[in-house]
Amino acid sequence: MTTATAEHRQVVRYGFYKLDPAWRRLPAERQAAAKTEFGETIERYRGRLLLRPYGLVGIRGDCDFLLWQVAEDLDALVELQTALNRTDLGAYLTIPYSFLAMTRRSIYEFPSAGDAQHDQRLVIRPSAAKYLFVYPFIKTRAWYSLPKAERQRMMDDHVRVGRKYPTIRLNTTYSYGLDDQEFVVAFEGDNPAEFLDLVMELRESEASSYTLRDTPTLTCVQMSLWDLLDTLGGASATRSVIPAARSDGFTPVCEVADLPPGAGKRVYAAAEAVALFNLGGTIHAIADRCTHARASLSEGTVDPARCAVVCPWHEGVFSLETGHVLAGPPGLPVQTYQVRTEGNLILVALPSVEAREAARS
Ligand code: FES
Repeated sequence: MTTATAEHRQVVRYGFYKLDPAWRRLPAERQAAAKTEFGETIERYRGRLLLRPYGLVGIRGDCDFLLWQVAEDLDALVELQTALNRTDLGAYLTIPYSFLAMTRRSIYEFPSAGDAQHDQRLVIRPSAAKYLFVYPFIKTRAWYSLPKAERQRMMDDHVRVGRKYPTIRLNTTYSYGLDDQEFVVAFEGDNPAEFLDLVMELRESEASSYTLRDTPTLTCVQMSLWDLLDTLGGASATRSVIPAARSDGFTPVCEVADLPPGAGKRVYAAAEAVALFNLGGTIHAIADRCTHARASLSEGTVDPARCAVVCPWHEGVFSLETGHVLAGPPGLPVQTYQVRTEGNLILVALPSVEAREAARS
């Protein structure tokens, strides 16, 4: 067996959370403030951990959302969960499932040495896929008694079936000795029907007879953190921080000091999330939600040369001046907003319904 102790490896946690329904009977102001606090706590860890939110409301009864957490060490996972436990919303959350794992190279050789899926095993790079299908996995002890060549033959067949479904992308991580399961497998895909067909076909493979456990199986929907918080019910995460619009149509959204040069920030005007950016002292305002798969553009990277923002999920590029797509997968532009400063305040004006319709036509 090869060892990989000297290789750079990541720790991975699939944390599934369930909200106590009692939370939905709290006053709306407290619900809204709790969502804001919870969301901002998670955002403080972006950069230190790779954090992907997924919703399960409407899909599972025993959990409401997943935070897919990828870090360089266990301490980061502990710190994040400790911070979440300290929030008001955290007091109403339980964790029905928590799967801990690490990246590592497979002990099996795969027919194509350049197979991208297997080359990527040491570093987790989530894709654009809308869905994530996650389950813990344990093989029977009889599997480990088989000669290595015999296991390799069965794995080759497994891989052959998987390659018939090229749009399904596999992330395998290893839990031996760290957690109850042996692996956690997480498949990314845009079409649940394709994944169903793949799993059904794999059931007929020889290797499948050596599976001891592969449940629970959790289907998760990728969405922005703030959309996810709104799937929990209660007051909207967006409405909680909405200041009133003035008679001239402008809404004060934050202080100038909150947006230093080079920074981006999500603010709210009426019911809309707006992404603000400060490029060398000029403030730009565009819709926060990417038109591709709803990432929060305020978390994107500013590109001063193009006066643009690069979406944090799939690198779609939007002009901050026009909202037009400059590159990447998005097909539609984002809304731009008038913005001005008055004293220490930044104000944003949302276009009227008529102006929006005129812009679309
Ligand atoms: S969500 Fe895909 S490019 Fe923005």
